[in-house]
Amino acid sequence: MKEKRSLVYCFLCAVAYVTLVCYYFMAYLCVNITQTVVEETETVPFFIKMNVSFWGLKKGDNLSTNVQFSLKYTNSSACPLAEFLAVIDETFWKFGAEALCENDTDKIDILCLVYLRQLGISRQLERGACALDSKGLVPKIVYFVTLGAYTFHMWNYIAVVAAYRHVQPVALYIVGDRHPQGVWWERVRRDVPGLRFVFREKPSSIAGRPAKFVEHLSDLVRMQLLYMNGGIYLDLDMVVLRSLEPLLGFDLTAGLMSPVEIANAFLISRRRNAFLKDWYIGFQDYEAKWTFTMEKAYNLSRQNVCQVYIVPDLYRPFWNEMPLLLNSSFYFDWTRSYAIHIWTKNGKIPSTVDSIQTDNSTISQVFRFVLYGDSRPRHADPYHRNLTELKKLL
Ligand SMILES: *[C@@H]1O[C@H](CO)[C@@H](O)[C@H](O)[C@H]1NC(C)=O
Ligand SMILES: *[C@@H]1O[C@H](CO)[C@@H](O)[C@H](O)[C@H]1NC(C)=O
Ligand SMILES: *[C@@H]1O[C@H](CO)[C@@H](O)[C@H](O)[C@H]1NC(C)=O
Ligand SMILES: *[C@@H]1O[C@H](CO)[C@@H](O)[C@H](O)[C@H]1NC(C)=O
Ligand SMILES: *[C@@H]1O[C@H](CO)[C@@H](O)[C@H](O)[C@H]1NC(C)=O
Ligand SMILES: *[C@@H]1O[C@H](CO)[C@@H](O)[C@H](O)[C@H]1NC(C)=O
Ligand SMILES: *[C@@H]1O[C@H](CO)[C@@H](O)[C@H](O)[C@H]1NC(C)=O
Ligand SMILES: *[C@@H]1O[C@H](CO)[C@@H](O)[C@H](O)[C@H]1NC(C)=O
Repeated sequence: MKEKRSLVYCFLCAVAYVTLVCYYFMAYLCVNITQTVVEETETVPFFIKMNVSFWGLKKGDNLSTNVQFSLKYTNSSACPLAEFLAVIDETFWKFGAEALCENDTDKIDILCLVYLRQLGISRQLERGACALDSKGLVPKIVYFVTLGAYTFHMWNYIAVVAAYRHVQPVALYIVGDRHPQGVWWERVRRDVPGLRFVFREKPSSIAGRPAKFVEHLSDLVRMQLLYMNGGIYLDLDMVVLRSLEPLLGFDLTAGLMSPVEIANAFLISRRRNAFLKDWYIGFQDYEAKWTFTMEKAYNLSRQNVCQVYIVPDLYRPFWNEMPLLLNSSFYFDWTRSYAIHIWTKNGKIPSTVDSIQTDNSTISQVFRFVLYGDSRPRHADPYHRNLTELKKLL
């Protein structure tokens, strides 16, 4: 009996292993087929300089009553590009349809139009202020999404600062229905020049069905942003560790959560990407199942795996490998990773500057690397600033 059972396990293991190997092999083939040459681009200034306050609204303002929505297009014959987006989520009409349907936006950051309109900036300034030249690559525009009341943690600050330092974006947006709160949010505003908060009402449903998880509404929003504008989407707990330039030549870049799930905490996409469109339209048969979005992408990719470039090991250490992240007795070689995902629900993530100074776990190394440009424990190095000074800095 026991033998029979272990035989079955063996068999299942073998199947899983073969699937994984095949997948990576196919992905490897794809690289050689679809990879376009990434040229050395000259240094782009961090942000378009504009003489406008980032904030636009006073503290305590109710965004949803102050923002002038774009309501010019409310039906599909006037704006066919927005139609399928709004079929799944009708709040898209109010949020992005007008900017998406504008003429001649090839060299325009479309979300920048939305942003300036929300601030009430004169339309005559828009085109110049939102000019974009990504030289045939995915534009270095970074998006984070936040829905509902949320207090920033240190790791959120680190994720935004890491994107700012390592991606060197031409624009960095936080899109949401409420300003995040807390001291770490204040610090992000202080330390990330040019950060733009764009108001966006929370989608009310998914193709008419209620969303069981707010994460699925966030999935819709990120896909809309990437579809309309192109760029780099990051979860607020995804910490970028180096330049993403080698990935900007692909049509769509993602990582695997398991051999049968394509995750979306880190997505790089060209504007109007066909796979992204199909993935989004897949929400038409939305099921309130946690893994819905990831399964949908995997199922689609089986029809043509070459449409997605899969970054190997993007989500490692996985959520079930927490000691690799948190315990200094283990080491994970993060120096080869594009980014690291902080699994905030699966362990105690360091949340103060003091707690990451001397500990040599992967997460402390990574956090120090982002904050100070040096991953070494800080007690060992007398040339570094001491804790009192550090606290003043942060
Ligand atoms: C920039 O903004 C400041 C403060 O609102 C204002 O005093 C200044 O005149 C503006 N400069 C230009 C060139 O518009
Ligand atoms: C803010 O606006 C929303 C939507 O109009 C409304 O439901 C809510 O009550 C308002 N909140 C405050 C504090 O005014
Ligand atoms: C849709 O928009 C078009 C063009 O703006 C307009 O002619 C038409 O009457 C609109 N249809 C509806 C049902 O509102
Ligand atoms: C877009 O271009 C078409 C055709 O050139 C024109 O009829 C239309 O008015 C333009 N729309 C806008 C918003 O500029
Ligand atoms: C993906 O495909 C599997 C196998 O065909 C199916 O059971 C599952 O429901 C599909 N998932 C989604 C989200 O479409
Ligand atoms: C870290 O791992 C070591 C070795 O497995 C173990 O002895 C220790 O208890 C772990 N520490 C924590 C805090 O879990
Ligand atoms: C911290 O960990 C890294 C990687 O394992 C190792 O190279 C380094 O020597 C460690 N530093 C200390 C002070 O233990
Ligand atoms: C740390 O820096 C502060 C401010 O420069 C200084 O007053 C303090 O003596 C320093 N502490 C140590 C242990 O070097």
